Amino acid sequence: MDFKLTEEHIMIRDAARDFAKAELLPGVIERDEKQEFPKELIKKMGELGFLGMMASPEYGGGGMDTISYILAMEELSKIDASASVMVSVNNSLVCWGLDTFGTEEQKKKYLSKLTTGEKLGAFCLSEPEAGSDATSQRTTAIDKGDHYILNGTKNWITNGSSADYYLVIAQTDKEKKHKGINAFIVEKEWDGFEIGPKEQKLGIRGSDTHSLNFNDVKVPKENRIGEDGFGFKFAMKTLSGGRIGIAAQALGIASGAYELAKDYSKQRKAFGTEICNHQAIAFKLADMHTQIEAARHMVMKAAWDKDQGLNYDLSGAMAKLHASQTAMDVTVEAVQVHGGNGYVKEYHVERLMRDAKITQIYEGTSEIQKIVISRSILKD
Ligand code: CAA
Repeated sequence: MDFKLTEEHIMIRDAARDFAKAELLPGVIERDEKQEFPKELIKKMGELGFLGMMASPEYGGGGMDTISYILAMEELSKIDASASVMVSVNNSLVCWGLDTFGTEEQKKKYLSKLTTGEKLGAFCLSEPEAGSDATSQRTTAIDKGDHYILNGTKNWITNGSSADYYLVIAQTDKEKKHKGINAFIVEKEWDGFEIGPKEQKLGIRGSDTHSLNFNDVKVPKENRIGEDGFGFKFAMKTLSGGRIGIAAQALGIASGAYELAKDYSKQRKAFGTEICNHQAIAFKLADMHTQIEAARHMVMKAAWDKDQGLNYDLSGAMAKLHASQTAMDVTVEAVQVHGGNGYVKEYHVERLMRDAKITQIYEGTSEIQKIVISRSILKD
């Protein structure tokens, strides 16, 4: 067993760390307050290769392994989880989905722009009445020969207004249940596509989350991904990998909060000494560090499984379940270590605590991860 990172891994981790400190840290509080993320910063992330890390080099991607991707995700998330969710959706859901299941034409036309930051992607599965229960899609795509007509509403879509290309999951034949679902590439400029209001969120407020409406949107048949009826499997397979990225995001939020708490505890004095010298604080730090290291091993294992071509449904779901709980526990404790200062914005930990919660909700709630895990361990 080799737990050592390669030189390339260390280089990628350090590049993400430097970028996050230099470019994401300034302005992170303001972006959270204003609920906005400048387009130039998205472009910069694209230019530096953070938006298409694992995608094939022939379509502009970095051709990197999943370990590299999660190392970058952790570093970006330590500083700005709003930036990292954009990176995660574009990499794991949109680019990976197209690279793995798209046609040559789809890759040339769409993927090659999504990997470089020229265009941004969104993944549209959730609906007002189909969140966890993803087979209950109400959005319909009616087959009209050489095209489909798409109608419906999608909810809580990350990159909702800033994306250019949207992977939309829709019901094409209700009778066939999950086998009557397809995935389509939809362009923002097409007639009938409408961006709904921006969600006012608790955390990851810098990222834009919207509902989307599709009113008789004409989608060419060549924009369907995979064979007819492949859409549900496409969504499930894509989300399985996405969950590793979100687990890495949760790990980053936790380790970011832990590092801030540790540094603070070495400076802040109470009862005549730095507070880290009090066991009440030292034990908290010991628990936080232990929980984070356990989460890190699980996230790494899931990424390694994926890189080895092994099944990662189980390890990815376990990593997300554990890392997201770790993010919640550690950020709450980080605020506690900071005392009153933890409750105000300039110390960053209150934001990380708010950001942590979403990791237990999106790309499958913790309860969904437990469904995936229990089904997997009970099937033998
Ligand atoms: N890989 C391949 N196929 C899979 C699969 C996987 N990981 N999981 C399920 N399937 C297949 C099954 O094999 C089955 O196919 P067959 O009939 O051919 O055998 C089919 O899909 C249906 O599977 P289930 O019967 O298990 O389906 P289910 O209705 O019981 O649902 C579920 C399973 C795990 C609960 C699923 O609905 C689920 O994951 N729900 C959560 C959805 C989710 O994560 N939403 C997040 C939205 S995206 C997001 O948050 C992005 C963002 O903006 C950040």
